[in-house]
Amino acid sequence: MSGTPAGWVAAAMDCLPALLVEQAHLEKKAAAAAMRFLFSTKKDAWIQRALSCLAREELVHFERTLRLLEQRGIEFSTQPPSRYADRLKSVVASTMPERLVDELIVSSLIEARSHERMEALGNALRDRDPEASAFYLDLVEAEGRHRTVYLDIATACADSATVLLRFGKLVQKERDAIEMADDEIRLHSGHGGYA
Ligand SMILES: [Fe+2]
Ligand SMILES: [Fe+2]
Repeated sequence: MSGTPAGWVAAAMDCLPALLVEQAHLEKKAAAAAMRFLFSTKKDAWIQRALSCLAREELVHFERTLRLLEQRGIEFSTQPPSRYADRLKSVVASTMPERLVDELIVSSLIEARSHERMEALGNALRDRDPEASAFYLDLVEAEGRHRTVYLDIATACADSATVLLRFGKLVQKERDAIEMADDEIRLHSGHGGYA
C-alpha cells in the first residue's frame, strides 16, 4: 500500500476537530458494515464469530471517539462523507458471488488505509497533542487486524485465483483514489497535490 506524504499529514493536523468528528462516523459505519456481512457472507462459525467481534470492537471505537469529542466540546454533527469509499465501490462487481468478494476486499483496503493514516497522524501528533496521538495510536492495532480478518473471509468465499485477481484490481483502484486531489481533508481523502 502506498504511503502518505508528510505535507498531507501536516495539513491534516490542522483539521483535527473535523477529523475526530469523521472518526466517529467512520467507526459507526464500520460497525454497520460488519453487521451487514454477518448476514451476507458464509455462516461458518469462525467467520460469524470474527465479524461479530469486529462489529463490537468498532462500536467500542465509536464510543471512545464520542467520549473524546465530548471532552473537547466538539459536537458530533453530520458531515458529508469523503468520496474515497464511493471511488472504491465504483469497481465492485455487480453480480454474486464476485460482488461479495469485492466488498470484503474493499473493506480490507479501507481498514488498511485507516491503519496507515491513523498511524501517521498518531505519530505526527505526539508533541502537539499527546492525547489525540495516544487515541489514534491505540486504535491502530485493531484496524490492522481488521484488514486481515476481511481478507481471510474473502479467501474463504472464493477460489484463490479469483481473490488474487480481484485484489490486484482493487488495490490499483485504491491507489488511484488516494492519489487524487480533494478539497477537504478527511481520513481517506486524496493526497494529490501534497509533497
Ligand atoms: Fe475502528
Ligand atoms: Fe476497523
